[in-house]
Amino acid sequence: MSEKEADKSVPRRSFLGMAWFATLSLVAVQGLVAILKFINPVPTGGFGGFIYAGKIEDFAINSINRILAGRFYISRTDQGVIALWQKCTHLGCAVPWDESEKIFHCPCHGSTFNEVGEVLGGPAPRPLDYFPAEVSEDGIWVDTSDPRSRNHHDPSHMTQVQG
Ligand code: FES
Repeated sequence: MSEKEADKSVPRRSFLGMAWFATLSLVAVQGLVAILKFINPVPTGGFGGFIYAGKIEDFAINSINRILAGRFYISRTDQGVIALWQKCTHLGCAVPWDESEKIFHCPCHGSTFNEVGEVLGGPAPRPLDYFPAEVSEDGIWVDTSDPRSRNHHDPSHMTQVQG
């Protein structure tokens, strides 16, 4: 190889090295994006995202309605609406609403909660968690990606219903 040919091959080697580096970088970035999407998927309307509960007129004042897809109850009182997570704050059992007793009654260890999730009895250490709810013209939307725990119930946890 002459001296001139050797000079030309250095930039070629350099170019091939940069091309390999760019290719490997691209593969690494695509892999990282795939891993991030797997770890933190975009919510698509199921539990963990926004859930449409229904039209406000479908929820009478002083009623409790279970929204299965969202794992929550819509409790409507004269104070507004609250979306109560069905998960017991003791050890996580699903808590059913007992219409005859007008309380939430956990089947696991007997904790009871009132219509806004306050503890009435049993080992549960705090009220039922709730999800932020929005009441708009088309109905009630609940953000199940953002459960709120609390040590006591406050009227500010309710979403006001206009009209
Ligand atoms: S899990 Fe509900 S009272 Fe224990």
